[in-house]
Parts: sequence; C-alpha cells; structure tokens
Amino acid sequence: MNLSTNYLGLKLRNPLMPGASPLVDNLDNVRRLQDAGASAIVMHSLFAEQIDGNQIAVDKHISRWQDNFAEATNFFPNVDEYELGPQEYLDQIAKIKAATQLPVIASLNGTHVGSWIEYAAQIEKAGADALELNTYFLATLANVSAATLEQRVIAIVSAVRKAVKIPVAVKLSPYYTSVAHLASRIEAEGANGVVMFNRFFQPEIDVENLEVHPKLDLSTSEDLRLRLRWLGLLRDQVKFSLAASGGVHTADDVARALLAGADAVQVTAELLTRGPGRLAELLKGLEEFMARHEYESVSQMVGALSLRNCPDPEAYERGNYLRTLQLWKE
Ligand SMILES: Cc1cc2nc3c(=O)[nH]c(=O)nc-3n(C[C@H](O)[C@H](O)[C@H](O)COP(=O)(O)O)c2cc1C
Repeated sequence: MNLSTNYLGLKLRNPLMPGASPLVDNLDNVRRLQDAGASAIVMHSLFAEQIDGNQIAVDKHISRWQDNFAEATNFFPNVDEYELGPQEYLDQIAKIKAATQLPVIASLNGTHVGSWIEYAAQIEKAGADALELNTYFLATLANVSAATLEQRVIAIVSAVRKAVKIPVAVKLSPYYTSVAHLASRIEAEGANGVVMFNRFFQPEIDVENLEVHPKLDLSTSEDLRLRLRWLGLLRDQVKFSLAASGGVHTADDVARALLAGADAVQVTAELLTRGPGRLAELLKGLEEFMARHEYESVSQMVGALSLRNCPDPEAYERGNYLRTLQLWKE
C-alpha cells in the first residue's frame, strides 16, 4: 500500500501532519509526532505583530488561545513555552530539523504587506522546507470591498513569493465571496497550495454579566463538511496542492478529506486533546479503510469524489440545497 503524497512539491511519506498550533513548540511532542508517523511538522504562526514589536497585540492573541484551551487540552504548552519571539521561532526551526528527519512547514501570520515579510526569507534561511501564510483578517468595515480584501491577500502572496524559493501555502478563511476565484488567483501568483480553512473565534454574549467574549470551542467532525465542499469544488479547478484543516478527528474524516481532493490532511484539535500518539491510530485507520475499499495508493484516493468524479455533482452545489430541504421531516 502506497501512502505517499505530493504536497507543495514535497514528497511526503503519507498525507497526515499536525496543523499549526503550539503543540510542536515542545520538542518531545515533535519526536512523538515523528514516531506516530507524521509526514511533516507544521509550526504555529509567527505573527506580524511579534515581528513589529507590538507585544500588546501578541499577548492578547495568546491569552485568547489560553483562555479558550488551556484547561480543555492536555497538550497546551505553558505561557513561556508558547511565547517564541522572532529569533526563538527561527531557532525552533533548526531545533525541529535537528530532532527529526521531517520536513518543517513554518507559518507567518499577517494582514497587510509590511516589513514582517522579510521574515519569510529568514525562515527559509533557518531551514524551513515550506512556508504557510495565514492572512487572518476579518472584514468588518462597510467601506472596504471584497475586491480590496482579496487584493490584500494577493499582494502578500506576491511579496512572499518574491522573497523565498521554498514552497508557499496560503491558509484561507472560508469567508470570501468567491473562495474558488481567490484560490485560482493565489495559484497564478505562484503559491504552491492552499490550506482550507482557518477556524475563527466567534463572539459569545454573557447574558448575566452583559459582556461579549471571544469564544472558540475546539472543532468536531461537523466542521469538516465545509472543507469537504470546497475541496471537492476546487480540486478540478486548480493544479496546485490542497490541504484540509478543520474537523479531522477520525480515520474516516481523513479518508473523506482525501476523497474530496486534499493532498494533505492537517489535524490540530484531535492531537491537542488526545496527544501526538493519536496520529498513529488515524494512520492505521486510513490503511484499514484503503484495504477495505481496495485502494492501493493515496494518490488513487485524492479527488476520487471531487466535483467532477462524484456520481452526484449536485451534492456539492445548489441542487443539494433544494433536495436537502425537502428531506426534512418532523
Ligand atoms: C490552540 C490552537 C492554536 C492554533 N494556532 C494557530 C497558529 O498559530 N496559526 C494558524 O495558522 N492556525 C492556528 N490554529 C488553527 C489550526 O491550525 C487549525 O486550522 C484549526 O484548529 C482547525 O483544525 P482542527 O479542527 O483540526 O483543530 C490553532 C488552533 C488551536 C486549537
């Protein structure tokens, strides 16, 4: 059985890797991920605000993760472990490279073209094998058009593409007017793939104290379905790599993401709660799935149920909406 996959031009031993999170700030976790079979190590993001020295913004970001997750997960690092400054982040790339034989995918997070982009070159120099770009941005202003926002993403991709030779993936949010159009523009700009999708904090209103809090629960497998739709729709419209991120918790979820069209599958919440060893179980489950369904290779699976290949393309599109509504019975 051939589990290997090509992601961003990297030949990987299988499609499974941790998604960006502080899990790999701890080198024991990195080694355990390698032992469990991970095919690459994706680092958490280095934020433009960290590079620009805006510590208040960084602290706010980190404390949000911690408020939401510190107690919910066993594998969330301590504050001091998570606060890798720009130089420590570069050092961590070298440490991970020394601790494993795995490709390292570093991550940069920024919203506008700025001096932080120079860090892309530093990340390359520090030995990263690829770079994931997270352009996390919430479109909150009525006077900023969708076109302006998309152009901002394209400008970042263009600047980073010029700055480095290593492969670049762009981690997208699902909240664009035309995800498919934006992805194809990102491909035209020279990126090597997209990661679908980011998960966002949604506000919660505390009705007793009359306060609004940012709140993000860890994902469940339900979150995967949004990704499946867009993987399936995009697979035949772009040539570059697609990775799934969001809602992968079981081996069947891994299979689903591959069948829809993902070349790589990232797992975050599941590993944060159950530990790096969980990846081995997912991998074993994938092999069992492949044996059961007589797939000899992962490449046979990738996109086998994409929009073009699935028996009922309407399932990805509008027809599904009408039919699903009619299925509802009290
Ligand atoms: C604690 C935590 C920290 C994260 N940090 C980052 C980050 O630094 N950069 C990033 O791009 N995504 C980050 N993410 C998002 C994950 O990479 C992933 O996209 C999201 O959790 C959805 O995947 P999942 O359902 O497998 O958790 C983080 C997620 C969690 C739970």
